[in-house]
Amino acid sequence: MFRVTMKEDLNEQDYYLEVESPHVSRHWRPGQFVIIMTHERGERVPISVATINGGRVGMFIKKLGKTSVELYRDFKVGSSLYAVAGPLGRPLKLESYGTVVLASDAVCGHAEQLGLAQELAKLGNKVISIQTFKTEKEVYPEKYLAKKYVDEYFITTLDGTAGYKGHYIDLLRELLARREVKAVFAGGALANLKKLAEATAGLDVRVYALVRTIMVDGTGMCGSCRVRYNGVIAYACRDGPWFDARLVDWDDVLRRDARFKKVEKIALDKYLAR
Ligand SMILES: Cc1cc2nc3c(=O)[nH]c(=O)nc-3n(C[C@H](O)[C@H](O)[C@H](O)COP(=O)(O)OP(=O)(O)OC[C@H]3O[C@@H](n4cnc5c(N)ncnc54)[C@H](O)[C@@H]3O)c2cc1C
Ligand code: FES
Repeated sequence: MFRVTMKEDLNEQDYYLEVESPHVSRHWRPGQFVIIMTHERGERVPISVATINGGRVGMFIKKLGKTSVELYRDFKVGSSLYAVAGPLGRPLKLESYGTVVLASDAVCGHAEQLGLAQELAKLGNKVISIQTFKTEKEVYPEKYLAKKYVDEYFITTLDGTAGYKGHYIDLLRELLARREVKAVFAGGALANLKKLAEATAGLDVRVYALVRTIMVDGTGMCGSCRVRYNGVIAYACRDGPWFDARLVDWDDVLRRDARFKKVEKIALDKYLAR
């Protein structure tokens, strides 16, 4: 069993959940994720790894649908999850690029930044982090930001109440104009990753995106997470979840992400009505 050792609010929507998982702690590499299950018959939920502390794995989770809300409401420190499977996915092959930008505007992207920043710094890169939140109220507590691991750090808010006013793509355009950025790793809202791919088309910079697809088994068997990538079919759980952003068919990714909206709403409504 995977005991909950810590649970903390990050803002009104997002929370930090830490669970015991010595196997994942030992073997996880940046770029990989886990699949958690609350119960034996529960949904399988892929989640990025934010922190590793000893034998404990920390995750940032958004209260979005049935499982993430149930986990927030019903699981306390000392409760146990049925499963934390992983690490899954392909570890990123990180290099010494020179100057690298990490960019995120949602929970999974913010989580991925922590491990990536530490690993890229070890490889001698100059690491710049940009974390976008809607408003100052949504900015995570400082200890959960990538700030402490990077050389240059920016918060951006869409309404300008903290840091730079705008989205990470707006600030990234300015940084790219300096011509020193050699690679970008971005995660978060899928529609904005599509915009990022468009904004960097034709530029001499590598751009990698966390392609967050709907997963079931997480091992390449079911086909749920398929992505049209560079003219062929790839599987986010087996070949990703990180891909070259400019080779991804984002319209297909966005269409597939919306395919269970109706049943997801029914599941949440049923859970809330209990
Ligand atoms: C590699 C990867 C990393 C992720 N990292 C995080 C993270 O760090 N924090 C976080 O909060 N979320 C993360 N997600 C998304 C998370 O898996 C979904 O938000 C979660 O499954 C929602 O479950 P739910 O029952 O609460 O909501 P639901 O009502 O079931 O779904 C709400 C939305 O979540 C997405 N979703 C639903 N089921 C799945 C599924 N089985 N696989 C993937 N997406 C799904 C869809 O966009 C859906 O519309 C990640 C997904 C992937 C693929
Ligand atoms: S989740 Fe089934 S193939 Fe990727």
